[in-house]
Amino acid sequence: MYIPEEKVSEILNTSDIVDVISESVILKKSGRNFFGLCPFHSEKTPSFSVNASKQIFHCFGCSAGGNVLSYIMKYHGISFPEAAKMVARKYNITIESETINPAKRKEIHLKEGLFRLNKTVMGFYFDELKKSSNGVKARNYLKQRGISDDIIQQFKLGFSLDAWESIVQVIRKQKVDRNIAVQSGLILERKQEKGYYDRFRNRIMFPIFDVNMQVAGFGGRVMDDAMPKYMNSPETPIYNKSRILYGLHEAKQYCRQKGFVYIVEGYFDFLSLYQHGIKNTVATLGTALTSDHVRILKGYAPKMVLVFDSDAAGISAAKRSIKIFMKEGVDTRVLVLPGDNDPDSYVTKHGQDAFNTCASKAKTVMQFLLQVSIETHGLSVEGRIRILNDMKQHLILIQDTALRSLYVKELAETLNIDEKAVLEKVRDQYLNRSDKRLSLMDENINEDMLESDRREEQMVSMMLNRPETIEKIKDSDVLKYFYSEKLKQLAKKIISMDPKKEAFITNVMANMKNNEDQELIASYAMKDFDSEQDVHQTARSLINRIIRVRKKQENTLTNKIISAEKGSDSEVMELLKQKQAEIQQLHSRL
Ligand code: GTP
Ligand code: MN
Repeated sequence: MYIPEEKVSEILNTSDIVDVISESVILKKSGRNFFGLCPFHSEKTPSFSVNASKQIFHCFGCSAGGNVLSYIMKYHGISFPEAAKMVARKYNITIESETINPAKRKEIHLKEGLFRLNKTVMGFYFDELKKSSNGVKARNYLKQRGISDDIIQQFKLGFSLDAWESIVQVIRKQKVDRNIAVQSGLILERKQEKGYYDRFRNRIMFPIFDVNMQVAGFGGRVMDDAMPKYMNSPETPIYNKSRILYGLHEAKQYCRQKGFVYIVEGYFDFLSLYQHGIKNTVATLGTALTSDHVRILKGYAPKMVLVFDSDAAGISAAKRSIKIFMKEGVDTRVLVLPGDNDPDSYVTKHGQDAFNTCASKAKTVMQFLLQVSIETHGLSVEGRIRILNDMKQHLILIQDTALRSLYVKELAETLNIDEKAVLEKVRDQYLNRSDKRLSLMDENINEDMLESDRREEQMVSMMLNRPETIEKIKDSDVLKYFYSEKLKQLAKKIISMDPKKEAFITNVMANMKNNEDQELIASYAMKDFDSEQDVHQTARSLINRIIRVRKKQENTLTNKIISAEKGSDSEVMELLKQKQAEIQQLHSRL
């Protein structure tokens, strides 16, 4: 179902966000905003705010934000059209299906077809497991692994027959479009002769749901030592491995309740923990954790605990994901289970309480890496120097200066080395340039750039709150001088819209592709814009300031580069050029 743009506008103009959110959150007026406890993360003091005049919400705690439709989507875990229909119903707005462009229609048709086929096939696998005599081996396997009937039911586990064409037949019988059937990845084209065969044969089947409870793909496990042990659906238009987390559709409510989420690797790890009452868990299914994963999880819980089977796996995974967690600024812990256990075998053997006790001792990523390094090198004089060398590489990744100095202190104490010496080592690491991001930390540059960013943010806030300034901004071409690629791109989107449109902010949001951009818009729109001064005057001085500062900074750098070139000081020149590139790079990451 596709909701035409005018309908979306109508819904946004008619509905009242305070009215809608009040149905699920107790709101109290305070100043210009309403405040309540955020439904998207656990908190004790209200940081979730709703602004009636702007018709947006924004959480100062977890930075969830958006308009009434994004709220409904996020709160109920439903798709955009479903949310639009829900709000429309409340306000007696009728939505009739509209004509849409052919490419879009085709895409929607394909996705809907894929979801429908997956759902059918899930039912087929499920029935084979439950009813048929064929499924007896699979049922026994699950029993032997301790999986209860309730879990089989809730997660719709299934069994794929030991046959080449059972899904091929299902598809034929249901007259599924050939393109959809092939794109689903459920069947494969035969190489030697004509026709197709089933991808999954003689396996325990795990449907993989997206957060909207739709079946995006499947995983399948053999019941013996055959290889490969697991097989998964390929990437399809509805199955994106870097975004999907197994179990999130059921776990999300518990993640919110608890305020943290366990991240495990396997299907059985997830199912066993869930069955033992540890329900705030998701599984990555063997793919490395991505920033998308982390960003998605952040919408449900501010803290994350990586659970690993063993030190070896833990170390490499912690090292791999540390950059992502640092970048996303998430409080992350690492839990390594004792003995030769994975989460599944541990909780099955020792139960929920033992698991929770272990979990309460989970270390921060830094503590974990430090412990590993101590175990590797020992605490002799040479050992401690090696540890320091290990740790400085991780320490420079921490963007938060306060946090970094805390860790430096902790490291200094643990190693019994003077804090200044540790700091020096960490500085060396930047200058060493073994890591490209190093001199981003250069204090001066940072300050200057933060200033620029503030102005650019201010401009975006102004465009949203006072759309009458947009024309002037457009004419001035000031966006060209933005440092931040992200803000530039948001501002461009805003400029492309009609400033006279009613409910401007919410309509801008409706035009943003992804949730992240919507949240950014909400946070910029939420900033109060001082209306005492003449807004056009403010716009003018902001434009001038942004252009002037940018030109000046470029000039200073360019001049230095030129004089370095003249003096053929190639080393300085290199540094300067690199600095220029880094400034660009830092801003493009914002
Ligand atoms: P069990 O042996 O059934 O307990 O599986 P496990 O989950 O403990 O397996 P393991 O720790 O070996 O792997 C963790 C996850 O990685 C699995 O749940 C799968 O999602 C994935 N995985 C493991 N082996 C394979 C494989 O051979 N192929 C693919 N595509 N994925 C795999
Ligand atoms: Mn296992």
